Amino acid sequence: MTRVTFPNVYVVVCRGPNCRARGAMPLRTRLVKLLKHDPNVRLIGYACFGQCDYGPNVAFYPPGEWYGGLSAPGDAERVVQHATDCAPLDMPLDLPETERIEHLRNIQDLVRTLARDRARPRRWWWPF
Ligand code: FES
Repeated sequence: MTRVTFPNVYVVVCRGPNCRARGAMPLRTRLVKLLKHDPNVRLIGYACFGQCDYGPNVAFYPPGEWYGGLSAPGDAERVVQHATDCAPLDMPLDLPETERIEHLRNIQDLVRTLARDRARPRRWWWPF
């Protein structure tokens, strides 16, 4: 039986149109490469944090921290270091409390769904 391990930290990258236009996808691609073999950090995508003017934006869950203005070449390594060692990261975003709570709930739902799917034995899925 395969033992399923769950990550300690989730790096949540915005995949919304404004963050993508500012370079979120190269950032995500670089993060995928950097985190490929780290079982303690998992990368997930998110629709939009509502902080579009500051993108590309990334959140860390469960700490509930947001950062903006990140770029692939310069910041991906620092994002990983922040997730693994709490290394400092520039450009914290201060979300309004109601939005922050709503996004945290959504991220929590995503994480629960991922955890539930990982814990299940793999099955074939036919999309109709
Ligand atoms: S598109 Fe990324 S915060 Fe809105």
